[in-house]
Formats: sequence, C-alpha cells, structure tokens
Amino acid sequence: MKNELHLVIVDDEPVNVLLLEEIAKEMGHEPVAFFDPREALQWFETHNADLLITDFNMPGMNGLELLSSVKTLHPELMSIMITASGDHELKLQALKIGVNDFLTKPISVAEFQLRLENILSLRQSIKLQKAFAEELKIEVAKATQALEKSQFEALNTLSRTAEYKDPETGSHIARVSHYSKMLAELCGLSEHEQELLFYAAPLHDIGKVGIADAILLKPGKLSEEEFEIMKEHSTIGYNILENSANPYLQAGAVVAESHHEKYNGKGYPKGLKGEEIPLFGRIVALGDVFDALTSVRPYKRAWSFEEAMELIQKEKGEHFDPRLVELFVANIGRVREIYAQFEGMDEKC
Ligand SMILES: [Fe+2]
Ligand SMILES: [Fe+2]
Repeated sequence: MKNELHLVIVDDEPVNVLLLEEIAKEMGHEPVAFFDPREALQWFETHNADLLITDFNMPGMNGLELLSSVKTLHPELMSIMITASGDHELKLQALKIGVNDFLTKPISVAEFQLRLENILSLRQSIKLQKAFAEELKIEVAKATQALEKSQFEALNTLSRTAEYKDPETGSHIARVSHYSKMLAELCGLSEHEQELLFYAAPLHDIGKVGIADAILLKPGKLSEEEFEIMKEHSTIGYNILENSANPYLQAGAVVAESHHEKYNGKGYPKGLKGEEIPLFGRIVALGDVFDALTSVRPYKRAWSFEEAMELIQKEKGEHFDPRLVELFVANIGRVREIYAQFEGMDEKC
C-alpha cells in the first residue's frame, strides 16, 4: 500500500536530499527529488503527490513560498518542513499555511522514519476514507435508482390497471403523457414537475375502475343519468390516490380530479374556473381531448390534425386554457412527432 503514496523531496543541499531519498527508499517509496524549489513548483503544475518534504532555507524561493504555491494547486497535499533551528516564528507561519510536521537539522534518521511513517499512515487513511465515501456515494446512487425503477414499475402497473377495462387504448395513455410533458416544458415548469406530470397523466381516468361495466362499456350514447354516474370517475380517481405520500400519486390525484374541469367553469366535478383549475389538470384536459379526437374510437373515426386543431382553437378560453392552446398550436410539429411515435400501436397492451 505504501508504494501507492508519492513523495517529493526538495532541498538545495544534495547531501540532505540523498539522505532523505535513501531512507524513503528503504521504507519502500520512490521519491521524486529536486535541488531547486522553482523546478519543484514547475513539476507540481502538472503532477500531484501525497507528501512534500521541503527545506526552508533555499536560494530563489524559500520553503514557505514553495509550500503555499503548491498548496494552491493541491490543497490536500501533506507536508513536512525542514528547519535549521527551532525558529518559533517560522514554525507558526508554516502551520498557518497548513504544514503538517517539522524536521530539525541535523536530521535524525530514526526521527525522520517515524515522522514519515506517521504522516503517511494518516495520508493513507484519508485516502481510504475518501475512496470509501466515493464508493458509498455510488452505492447510494445505485440503490436510489433501483428504488425509482420499482416506483415507476408500480406506477406503470397502476396505469395499466386503470386502462384495463377502459375502452381507451394504451397508446392514448402514452400520448397523453407525452403531450402533457411537452406542455409542461413549454409552460416553463421544472424538469422535476415535467416528470411528475409525465407519470401522473396516465392516472387521469383511474377512477373508471369504480364505474359499473354496464355504463363504462355501453356501446351507445349514455343517458343523462348514466352520464352523471360516469362523471363520478374524476372524484373516485381522486379518492383512490389522495392519501398517498408518493409525489407521483399526489400529482395523479390532482390530475384525476381536475381533468374534466373547463376553463369557462362549465366542467366537472367542481365547476372550477380559469386558473382555479390546477395547471396539471388544465394541461391533461387539452392533451386528453386532442388525443381522443385524433384517435379512432368504436363510435367515431379519427379526426385529422387540422380538424382537431380547429376544435381546440374554437375551445380556446372555453374548454381550454388559452395560453396552453397557443403553445400547443405553435408546437404542432412536436405534437405530430409524438403522434407518429405511437402510430399503429392502438391495440390494448
Ligand atoms: Fe376522464
Ligand atoms: Fe383519456
């Protein structure tokens, strides 16, 4: 392990350099040595080391100047300063710039060996701690990823349950997610909010699991009374999701409850108006209706993009948030791309 630690020795007296080098080598290290501190500084511009052992009194640049310059390049570098005497003031200055230990001339071999061993084992344990922290960070990231994956799998399962009996198709759910995310991005919502909506949008009709098959799967037009029951799916969806602490399900609750509200206040279940309707609900309302219009349903053909866009624009400020309609129309190219991505996948998944 010791061989992995890199030592640099700087002293203008060759005898001292040779002595320190010899001791370090005996201890199993391969030190790099310099007689000129300026050359050492140059070396540090492109290299790093674990420990710098430097003399104080050298021509051209003293040990303090060298150490403080090297420390700005490599703040974690450890150091031993060699001084000729017990100069108290000098030691204080050296400690201020972060020197770790001192050696007094004439150098005692035994003392140098012990100080070197101490400081290198400290350096080694710092390195190990850092490596451990790094490893821990990777492990935590992996665990978080696994947790997120299982969370998305659970969300997916819930969405598939929601659409299982629903005559609407899997590709409808997917497109509504993508249209909603696109609108969230165009509205300037954060990436986190865009992602929340992407996973919450498929839950918009989850409340349909609480609607009787006779009504949900009725091939013809619903009677007024049946339609009133059908409308309950928004509140049922909200009730299913509202108590979850999971942010995706919380967003799903908002979407489920508000995706049939209309900007003019004539929607349901609460008859909310304009910005009283949560933005997520206003967004999903637009994506949901646009996709229903452009999709084939047992009771209708697929409308062309132009026909659907015309209706959306006609409903600007009525059914839909005018700002969202403008963004949607201005980005028709992206809408077409999303549509094309799921074309021909209209079988139930
Ligand atoms: Fe719905
Ligand atoms: Fe839908």
